[in-house]
Amino acid sequence: MTELEEKLLATLAEAKDALAQAKASSAIEELRIKYLSRKGVMTALMGQMGTVPPADKPAVGKTLNLVKKQMEAAFQEATAALSDQSATAQAIDVTLPARLRALGHQHPITQVMEQAVAIFRRMGFVVADGPDLEDVWHNFDALNAPQDHPSRAVTDTFYFDLEHHDYLAKDTMILRTQTSPVQIRAMETHPAPVRIVCPGRCYRRDTPDATHGMSFHQIEGLYVDKKVSLADLKGTLSYYAKEMFGSNVKIRFRPHFFPFTEPSVEWDASCMACGGKGCKVCKGTGWIEISGAGMVNPQVLRNVGWDPEQLSGYAFGMGIERIAMIQYGINDLRLLYENDLRFLHQF
Ligand code: PHE
Repeated sequence: MTELEEKLLATLAEAKDALAQAKASSAIEELRIKYLSRKGVMTALMGQMGTVPPADKPAVGKTLNLVKKQMEAAFQEATAALSDQSATAQAIDVTLPARLRALGHQHPITQVMEQAVAIFRRMGFVVADGPDLEDVWHNFDALNAPQDHPSRAVTDTFYFDLEHHDYLAKDTMILRTQTSPVQIRAMETHPAPVRIVCPGRCYRRDTPDATHGMSFHQIEGLYVDKKVSLADLKGTLSYYAKEMFGSNVKIRFRPHFFPFTEPSVEWDASCMACGGKGCKVCKGTGWIEISGAGMVNPQVLRNVGWDPEQLSGYAFGMGIERIAMIQYGINDLRLLYENDLRFLHQF
């Protein structure tokens, strides 16, 4: 091999190495100028053909052409590889904001429940808990429900194992029909004063419709202390109504009856939609019924061994679904349980 051929091959190898290092089109262009331009290395080497002995010329010429072709091919390859790379770099655009993972959120019932609990906690109430699976004594007897009270009927309450249990027996198990048994449990386990709220699930043998379910939620409240009055109850519920529904909302009491409160009331809030003037939401009355409440019946205090001469208290029990329906303008309670995400996403 002639000296020129050796130089040509070395130059090709050198150019290929340099191209392998080139990471940008500007670098490739620099190399192209260095090797392939009119004043480049290859032109200079071709100029040396004149010094090759005539006998070697055909072979050296062949090598020269081959090296030139290969070098051009190497440049083409390098350019193509680079544009390939930048195409993939574009496909994965690292500056694109990440797709957000859809986070779940609380069910509207849970939201309302926590909102209510937060309001009462600010007033000094403590959260209490009781079992969904309750006995007849806590759910009915201790709460002064007479044995012929309609809510005790087997058609109204879910009883367990009635084949072996009398539905009136104190230890027969039921699904609690109200959160009021937690009042009893709180007084059984804590000395006075007690000030508790208990959010929880209740069960009744109702045929489900737009405003009734077999299972629903209540938040129970109980405050027993020395000299607790109906005025305290009204003040507490009034504050709650303003916090929950709006600062202009007023409340009113209507006489009612519950076995475990005396006197008993039902309380209404002035309509949040019309401000009390009367509209479709409040059916023209200006008021929206919220829940039952009253002064703890002295007999209930006696049932847990407390002295009604020393202590008095108030209690209330609110349906959560009802509040959620008012708050969110939902007209069918069953929507809350169908778990249709298109519905739930709205809250
Ligand atoms: N437990 C009653 C109900 O379910 C509500 C209530 C609770 C009323 C406490 C008065 C006092 O209807």
